[in-house]
Amino acid sequence: MLEFQKVTATYKKNTGIFDISFELKAGEMIFLMGPTGAGKSTVLKAVYSAIKINAGKIVVDGMDLTKINQYQIPFLRQKIGMIFQDFKLLNDRTVLENVALPLRIQGIPTQKIYEEVYSTLSKVGLSNLHNSYPLELSGGEQQRVCIARALVKKPKIILADEPTGNLDPNVSDEILDLLDIFTDTGSAVLMSTHNFPLIKPRKKRFIELSNGRIID
Ligand SMILES: Nc1ncnc2c1ncn2[C@@H]1O[C@H](COP(=O)(O)OP(=O)(O)OP(=O)(O)O)[C@@H](O)[C@H]1O
Ligand SMILES: [Mg+2]
Repeated sequence: MLEFQKVTATYKKNTGIFDISFELKAGEMIFLMGPTGAGKSTVLKAVYSAIKINAGKIVVDGMDLTKINQYQIPFLRQKIGMIFQDFKLLNDRTVLENVALPLRIQGIPTQKIYEEVYSTLSKVGLSNLHNSYPLELSGGEQQRVCIARALVKKPKIILADEPTGNLDPNVSDEILDLLDIFTDTGSAVLMSTHNFPLIKPRKKRFIELSNGRIID
């Protein structure tokens, strides 16, 4: 589903990620671990083609990112759902409209959009909150809205950048459960975190980064 082959992506001052290789299979969940500045977000940005890589190769669901042009980037991004630590919800739109947004952008008919949105909201346990605004919700609920917004377009891969960073341990565990359930449908999850105690009991693969490189 996702392949990194000796990927190097640098910013101006010799920082970034260096010689990163790994493979994420369909139905798999991998954690990207490492301290602040280790390069976790940079790996995720490279998958989303939000930054250019200097060397190596990234393949997302058969798409070689070194060979695509700017017009193909929207097709790439349709395959990917993004979840962030700070949610990035539109606070002046209801839960329903936030989750509908990725489908509106695709020009899907409204009736179909609402079917998909309601079905996705029920999967993340938010059916009763569809008319609420993000700031009326708890942090855990807001993160569920983000997960619904990512899932609604049925992505092949979910990229989650420190999705539990602002949540307490119990709620964090529930968020991980939701992402885990998502992999049962054959999709893949790549999640960054520096919370090792949170992920340790899950016995998933993890990749440890330090100074932009994979260690051990
Ligand atoms: N836009 C940028 N321009 C220049 N340098 C950057 C940029 N973004 C990140 N970096 C640098 O690249 C390195 C990796 O950053 P990255 O954001 O990937 O780390 P991270 O592991 O996600 O850290 P955190 O846990 O704090 O989110 C750091 O040294 C950072 O300062
Ligand atoms: Mg980061």
